[in-house]
Amino acid sequence: MAASMPRVLFLVSLACAMAIGACWPVAAAKRGGRLIHLKLYMHDITGGPGQTAVQVVKGPGAAHPAMPGAHFGDTTVIDDPLTEGPAASSRLVGRAQGTYMLASLKEPVLMVTMTMAFTGGAYNGSSIVVVGPDDVFAAVREVAVVGGTGAFRRATGHVLWRTARMESREHMVLELDVYATVPGAGPAPKPKPPRVDGMLHHKA
Ligand SMILES: *[C@@H]1O[C@H](CO)[C@@H](O)[C@H](O)[C@H]1NC(C)=O
Repeated sequence: MAASMPRVLFLVSLACAMAIGACWPVAAAKRGGRLIHLKLYMHDITGGPGQTAVQVVKGPGAAHPAMPGAHFGDTTVIDDPLTEGPAASSRLVGRAQGTYMLASLKEPVLMVTMTMAFTGGAYNGSSIVVVGPDDVFAAVREVAVVGGTGAFRRATGHVLWRTARMESREHMVLELDVYATVPGAGPAPKPKPPRVDGMLHHKA
């Protein structure tokens, strides 16, 4: 009996792995969480007019074996627009602010650390914090949702990350499918900006 438990768990895990989208929200609902799915587009513009990504560290090592022209340690800081649709003219909903660093000696993998700060739409004022590996030649990359603010307080989840298209050699459009679970079953709390007058007249 005891010996068969790991196999049962393995089969359950396998079933989940084969249908990640099916098992995962069920688990989230059981914990009383609220699942939020967002599809966004991120514009990473590495040069030219409207540049949003700037290399701040040029890795001093040898040329990277898997990424022509790149070096271990190369680091880029970004403030990339997040839009509703893939076109640059599509409605702006926020900005992806952070860095990506070539942190693998051999593999073409960037370490992404960023905040998706929403400046419009339903989640205006809230943010999602994302960390993880970007295997640049993979069709779909997965990075982790490790937290957030406002409507995304204590968020957990993942982001499926795809290259949607190249607008030009220097303008990459990424498609991000964000799956985040936040605790609690109710609607998203609206973050309340501090009321300066209220604070001034607050009686201790
Ligand atoms: C987002 O929220 C800020 C602060 O409350 C507000 O000034 C701004 O107009 C909002 N933007 C949109 C697009 O709703």
